[in-house]
Amino acid sequence: MKPSREPIHGQWSSRWAFVLAATGSAVGLGNIWKFPYITGENGGGAFVLLYLVCIVLIGIPIMMAEIMLGRRGRRSPINTMRHLAQEEGRHGWWRYLGWLGILSGFLILSYYSVIAGWALAYLVRTAGGVFTGLTADGVNNIFYSLVADPERLLAWHTVFMVMTMVVVARGVRSGLERAVRYLMPLLLLLLLVLVGYAMNTGAFQQSLVFLFSPDFSKLTPNSVLIAMGHAFFTLSLGMGAIMVYGSYLPRHVSITHATFTIAGADTLVALLAGMAIFPIVFANGLTPAAGPGLIFQTLPIAFGRMPGGEFFGALFFLLLIFAAWTSAISLVEPLVAYMVENMRMSRVMASALAGGVTWVLGLGTIFSFNLWSGERYKLWGLTFFDVLDYLTVNIMLPLGGLLIAVFAVWAMRRESSISELGIGDGPVYRSWRFVTRYITPVAVLLIFLHAIGVLKPWLNRL
Ligand code: PHE
Repeated sequence: MKPSREPIHGQWSSRWAFVLAATGSAVGLGNIWKFPYITGENGGGAFVLLYLVCIVLIGIPIMMAEIMLGRRGRRSPINTMRHLAQEEGRHGWWRYLGWLGILSGFLILSYYSVIAGWALAYLVRTAGGVFTGLTADGVNNIFYSLVADPERLLAWHTVFMVMTMVVVARGVRSGLERAVRYLMPLLLLLLLVLVGYAMNTGAFQQSLVFLFSPDFSKLTPNSVLIAMGHAFFTLSLGMGAIMVYGSYLPRHVSITHATFTIAGADTLVALLAGMAIFPIVFANGLTPAAGPGLIFQTLPIAFGRMPGGEFFGALFFLLLIFAAWTSAISLVEPLVAYMVENMRMSRVMASALAGGVTWVLGLGTIFSFNLWSGERYKLWGLTFFDVLDYLTVNIMLPLGGLLIAVFAVWAMRRESSISELGIGDGPVYRSWRFVTRYITPVAVLLIFLHAIGVLKPWLNRL
């Protein structure tokens, strides 16, 4: 059976609608919560440089490939891979790539929602003026008392999960496009305000050096893997989120332009977040390696001191929640699209089911910060949350991305990709194909091997 080239879940209304939705997927907790704290844990500059190299050599080529496969297949990732494999005369096993992605999305969302719940809790606290005039210690205490309380975390996790599933149930397009169009630029603006504040902390210079002056002695084999994993995570690659959004993309839209816009916006937000947070870290004598609580332990200090801090603080957390929301939606979309296509479920039913199961798994992450934080619940010294995060972001996403790249340039016929990318057989196409064929997969494999070879120091360090 030849796949039809008509999408079955509707289409984006324009190129911008797709770019906005995909940017909404890409920009999220990864940029504002995760990028700063893993940069802090991995020594700064060299890690940032490596992350940028991974965005360019691995992220961008794979994003083009993933959007291309999505648009050509026009279905949920599993069905897209099945159809494309058939069409290209390849083995039906390629559909397991779709399954791998769905599993990654499900596992990631389970903890993503818990962290987004922290942001919800902080929205209430900043708006209520809880941080006004507090010292760094006071802000720290508030963070620890929140994460120590499983019931509160559960309540916020539930709120976020329900918010996400309501949008997913209604279909991706309604509302999402419009909301991203206004709220994304506002988020960018607010980050600029925060960077402006950070410039006056007296530690701006120091944090620029920390972020942008590479000291390669600080890199471990494991931090190389983390930088690569983060490139996948932050661009929403390797699990089908971008593929499924690509499947709603109208035919005439340039995939190349869209990719560069999305990756550019995503990187900008991450770097601005770093530039806003580290000056506060250094000016207050905090440690950059504080871990997942970093932004929650630093930004409130700034909000507690700046004029209008309650307003800016509340607005910031509101936008962060919004950014997380648009990402969370894309994390379950491949699964929900599959359930609708293959299990004849309504979107509402599929969303409720997917959301319910993900919610339950989220308990593991909640307990990682309190009930299960003791040594006896750890695996290799890692909590449930750490293991889940490491496994999905640093292994499953790069593996999925690698297979996407391999399919797009090795398994798929050249003519198919030329026709789908729509940029002819010119220099742009040829450089994309060359990089995706030879550089991207080799880089991913080398980074994997590098990490495996020296696994011990990594385990000790954590
Ligand atoms: N890119 C999102 C972020 O940075 C997370 C995400 C990963 C979303 C994978 C979808 C798929 O927060």
